[in-house]
Amino acid sequence: MRRSVIAGVGAYLPERVMTNAEMATIVDTTDDWIVERTGIRCRHIAAEGEKTSDLAVHAATRALAAAGIEAAEVDLIVLATATPDWTFPATATTVQARLGVRKGAAFDVQAVCSGFIYALATADNFIKAGQSQCALVIGAETFSRILDWTDRGTCVLFGDGAGAIVLKAEQGQGGIADRGVHSTHLHADGRHHDLLWVDGGPSSTQTTGKLRMLGNQVFRHAVVNLAEVVTEALAANDLQPDAIDWIIPHQANRRILDGTARKLGIAPEKVVVTVDHHGNTSAASVPLALAEAIADGRVKRGDLLLLEAMGGGFTWGSALVRF
Ligand code: UT7
Repeated sequence: MRRSVIAGVGAYLPERVMTNAEMATIVDTTDDWIVERTGIRCRHIAAEGEKTSDLAVHAATRALAAAGIEAAEVDLIVLATATPDWTFPATATTVQARLGVRKGAAFDVQAVCSGFIYALATADNFIKAGQSQCALVIGAETFSRILDWTDRGTCVLFGDGAGAIVLKAEQGQGGIADRGVHSTHLHADGRHHDLLWVDGGPSSTQTTGKLRMLGNQVFRHAVVNLAEVVTEALAANDLQPDAIDWIIPHQANRRILDGTARKLGIAPEKVVVTVDHHGNTSAASVPLALAEAIADGRVKRGDLLLLEAMGGGFTWGSALVRF
C-alpha cells in the first residue's frame, strides 16, 4: 500500500505582531469585542515588500530541514494561496526557483481557507498514483494586502503566515496503524460565492480587489459543513471520535472551533487552537497550527490527526493523517 507520509513540517510568521489595541486605533473596534466574538488577540502582518513567496520559502526551508531532505529530492510543489505574488506565474514556481528545485511540477491551488487541504489531497493523489516521490505542500498567505482597512467586520480577523509539509512516498501495511495520509475528502458549493469573496480580479475588474464577507452567514455554514466533513472522515475510516489524537482545524473563529467540537462530542483539549495569536491566515492556518503543536510537543510521531478547513467558494474538506 503506497502512502504519503509527512516527513517534516515547517512554519513561518512575519516578524510584526499587530494587537487588537493597535487595531482599535485604525477602525471603530475594541479588544473586548474582538476577543469575545472571535478569540483573536493578535496577528502577524507581513513587512512592506514581503511577499507570499518569501513566507513560503521560509516555511518550506524549515520543513525540508525538519525532514532531513535536500531540495533536489523534491519533484512536486503544490502551493495553496489566495494571495499570490502576481496574477501569474504561480507563486509555487517562484518558490521552486528560490529553493533550487529543478525537476517535476510546481503549481498553485486556489481554494482560499481550504487551500491547504485541497493542496494536500492533490499531492497525496500524485504520490499514490506514482507520479511523485517527494512533494512540498505549502499554505502561504498575505491577506493583509487584500483587506479593506476601513471595514471593521473583516480587517480585524485575518493575519499573514505560511506553513509547509514534506510528503514522501512510503509503503505501508494497509491498516489504520500505518503512518501517512489515510483519507482526504474535498467539497465545494459555488452557490455561496458571494458570502465570502474578493471584489476584484484580472478578468472582472482588472484590479486586485478587497475581501468582502457576510460573516454571520459564513459562520452558520462553517459549523454545519465542518461537523459533516469530520463525521465523513471518521465514517470513511471506520473510527469513533475518541480514536483521533488531535484535530487540527482551520483557524477562523474560536467560537467555530468550540461549536464544531461540541457538536461532534470531541474534547476541546484535543483541538489545536492558534487563532488567538495568528488570526485567520487562510490557507496557512492548518500547517501553522500543525507546526506549532509539533514544536511544543503536543503532536507526536504516530498520533492520528484530523485536519479540516472551510473557506470561500464555499470549499471545505478534511484529511486524516497518522503523523
Ligand atoms: O475563513 C473562512 C471562514 N470564515 C469564517 O468562518 C468567518 C465566520 N464568521 C465569523 O467569524 C463571525 O461572523 C464574525 C467574527 C465575522 C462576526 O461575528 P458576529 O457575531 O457574526 O457579528 P455580526 O457580523 O453579526 O455583527 C454584530 C455586530 C454588528 O453591529 P450591530 O449591527 O449589531 O449594531 C457589527 O457592526 O458587531 C458589529 N461589529 C463590530 N463591532 C466592533 C462587526 N465587527 C466589529 C468589530 N468591532 N470589529
